[in-house]
Amino acid sequence: MSYQFPKSQALFERAQKSIAAGVNSGIRKMEQPVPLYFERGAGSRLWDVDGNEYIDFQIGQGALLYGHAPRGMADAIAAQARLGTHWAAQSELEIEVAERLQRMIPSAERVRLNNSATEVVLSALRLARGHTGRPLVLKFEGHYHGWADEGLVGFAPSPDKWGTDDAPTRLHPSQGVIPEVLEKFVVVRWNDPEHLRRRVAEFKGQIAAIIFEPVLCNTGCMEPVPGMAETIRELCDREGMLMIADETITGFRFGAGGAQKFFGFTPDLTVLGKAVGGGLPFAALAGKESAMSKIIKGEVVHAGTLNGNPLCLAASKWCLDQVLSLGERHPREIIALGHELMTGLRALADRHGVPLRPQGPGLVFHTAMLKPGAAEGPVRDYRDYVRRHDAPRWAHLRRCLLEEGVRAIERGLWFISLAHTPADVREALQRAERAFGRHAAEFVGADVRRL
Ligand SMILES: Cc1ncc(COP(=O)(O)O)c(C=O)c1O
Repeated sequence: MSYQFPKSQALFERAQKSIAAGVNSGIRKMEQPVPLYFERGAGSRLWDVDGNEYIDFQIGQGALLYGHAPRGMADAIAAQARLGTHWAAQSELEIEVAERLQRMIPSAERVRLNNSATEVVLSALRLARGHTGRPLVLKFEGHYHGWADEGLVGFAPSPDKWGTDDAPTRLHPSQGVIPEVLEKFVVVRWNDPEHLRRRVAEFKGQIAAIIFEPVLCNTGCMEPVPGMAETIRELCDREGMLMIADETITGFRFGAGGAQKFFGFTPDLTVLGKAVGGGLPFAALAGKESAMSKIIKGEVVHAGTLNGNPLCLAASKWCLDQVLSLGERHPREIIALGHELMTGLRALADRHGVPLRPQGPGLVFHTAMLKPGAAEGPVRDYRDYVRRHDAPRWAHLRRCLLEEGVRAIERGLWFISLAHTPADVREALQRAERAFGRHAAEFVGADVRRL
């Protein structure tokens, strides 16, 4: 008998009478058959209000690199809570966290703290414009940099509006955006270094920064093609632009040095979120001293009542110490575990005749579902993803997986945490076997009647 969700259903109905649309982040409404309500988490496991137990690969949208409710982190937060929850002032703890970031990330010569990566992106873009005196920012189609006006330009344009391959349009998925913000962006397709060169030449002397997800994790899961990061660095050096690596997802997941160490590039500024706070509202802007100089001199404003909050700092210090203590084992072990899961899912898909194609570096991956007749091979950029990924079919399989106790992200992303074990992967695959069987038997094409 697969999972039922009567208590979550009832709570969601109640929530809609007090919380706008019943959820506190729009994307959470996507969960089928109902946005779930959780009671408790431990390690790789999560329990909802109906008593259903999940092996969790959503893992706090990737923030819980250390798993749910790790004991050491809970103790660190509790100890700090007894001393004070908020000072809006300095503490030695913030220096300890900043010094760890310096040690771990070579380009982190100076840091500033915030409460969300959305805020850090806004700080980084303001700083880049202040630093260069230029108005424009170059970003890649399908890359997500938070929910603010500036973070979502070119995130998910529909094919009828996305413009030509040479000149992607600057679309925003939200109403209410300041129209002039759109004009301050140059949108470029991911993983095409020559196209990037042409776009930079087209706006020569006007671009302050190039911002990018080192591995595109918010649309599919696409590693940079060889030469991609190198081209960004080369163009930034040659044209006097700042290179901003948005490591909100990749930071610490790819090891102590983040994706920049893993792939071997050095950005001017880095956005850190998610794993830096292990699930607490904590994020950091890190960068070369020269790139941070306008903040150092007070010429670019950076502020926030809750910045450097001691509860978040206590959690962050514990998280960073975990990563440091693992040394070379991280990310090697979660890469291997992720590959085991990807291979197992692909084998199940083949056995059940499901066109599922796991793609990614293991520690995070995406399960693309090929549309009927779509070509094989890795998905390369946002347009390729839209053309080949069968989202309704994936949504159906995702629901079947959820009802068997395997929780992946609604858009098809899976995260491995340090709390996942080989036994978790084996059990997840056993549960997934039933889910694939049901999916293969019940899916009826684009008209997904069960949803
Ligand atoms: C790459 C990237 N940048 C920025 C953000 C925004 O982070 P937050 O939701 O903490 O503001 C996210 C969130 O998922 C992200 O994935």
